[in-house]
Amino acid sequence: MKIKVMSVFGTRPEAIKMCPLVKELERHEEIESVVCLTGQHREMLQQVIDIFGTKVKYNLDVMQPKQTLVTITTSVLKKLESVLVTEKPDIVLVHGDTSTSFVAALAAFYQQIPVGHVEAGLRTYDKYSPFPEEMNRCLTGRIAELHFSPTESNKRNLEKENIKNHIYVTGNTVIDAFKTTVKENYQYKDNDVRHINFIGKRCVLVTAHRRENLGQPLENICRAIKRIAEEFLDIEVVYPVHMNPVVKRTAETVLGEIERVHLVKPLDVEDMHNLMARSHMVMTDSGGLQEEAPACGVPVLVLRTETERPEAVEAGTVKVVGTNENDIYESAKILLTEKDTYDQMAHAVNPYGDGHACERIARIILDWKR
Ligand code: UD1
Ligand code: UDP
Repeated sequence: MKIKVMSVFGTRPEAIKMCPLVKELERHEEIESVVCLTGQHREMLQQVIDIFGTKVKYNLDVMQPKQTLVTITTSVLKKLESVLVTEKPDIVLVHGDTSTSFVAALAAFYQQIPVGHVEAGLRTYDKYSPFPEEMNRCLTGRIAELHFSPTESNKRNLEKENIKNHIYVTGNTVIDAFKTTVKENYQYKDNDVRHINFIGKRCVLVTAHRRENLGQPLENICRAIKRIAEEFLDIEVVYPVHMNPVVKRTAETVLGEIERVHLVKPLDVEDMHNLMARSHMVMTDSGGLQEEAPACGVPVLVLRTETERPEAVEAGTVKVVGTNENDIYESAKILLTEKDTYDQMAHAVNPYGDGHACERIARIILDWKR
């Protein structure tokens, strides 16, 4: 009898980290792999599915413009019920800390189907930051049967919460993804990026989208970037803007007309990873970029007040700078002017794995079921 493994995901970062795992599950004859997308994201999710060529059996297609946490939660919970009843998987895999992750875990729990949590054990210990992700991952951890932690410190976090069994340190599947996307002599597919003249210039890559940064913090971030772009004539700032209309509005209002700032559409993951690998530095509030940029030796300024990913901070390639305009400006300025400080941060570290996380996870699922 095959083990039926249903992977449920719905946003861009989950897809980037789950598609390589789905590919690995499909390689095993003893596994029947089924993919169910919640469609919490639409275009940004499809970009990833297309790149990885992932076979999708269900798409719950829940995304609505200006969706709220409640609309995502209720739609996913309701629509997933019939899929789970029909498919009766042996295990449901969810990833990380989005509303999709938590609600899919809850829906599986209601059907008494075991849950495997990929990227388990990340914590800030601040219930409201990141919001709602910190609580999503805590609750998913309570429900899950198997916990796939990227690092030892993630495992210790779970142990502190009295979760004792079935915690496996596997590395992060994002490193598996990264190995397949970054290439030499890469040609960007995105027209806007392809036409930026980077010769003799330093690329500063920016992303920002977190719910707790919407409003004043995001405005501060954009103002700091404006000051940097106006002051440093040898940089090109590339900011692929998240499709959330609130994010777009702020980015376009503050940065729309600024020289050396390129507001571009969300990049597909190959363009994004290759641009990142060639950047001078990254400024971001994203979780995934804090894992990817250190792997290619690119310093990261984290535009948040905390991080659940302390490993690269400890290794010295990531610095948490907060969301105050002047603090962001000063930290960026230091990285653009002080060579010694820059060189200290710009070394490749890889606390998030060796690119074989997916193999480990598949093997653990097979052994667990035996
Ligand atoms: C979600 C996750 C967050 C994750 C982020 C990754 C939750 C609560 N939040 O936040 O943890 O870091 O994804 O990007 O799970 N939109 C589109 N097309 C898309 C995607 C989004 O138009 O392909 C727009 C829609 O108007 C949507 C809005 O963006 O309503 C917000 O999307 P949502 O998933 O609610 O929040 P994110 O900020 O993307
Ligand atoms: N990413 C991408 N295109 C973009 C911006 C980000 O492919 O235009 C990738 C990025 O490399 C990382 C992931 O999306 O792998 C991060 O997703 P996001 O910032 O949406 O979410 P978070 O990591 O904060 O949850």
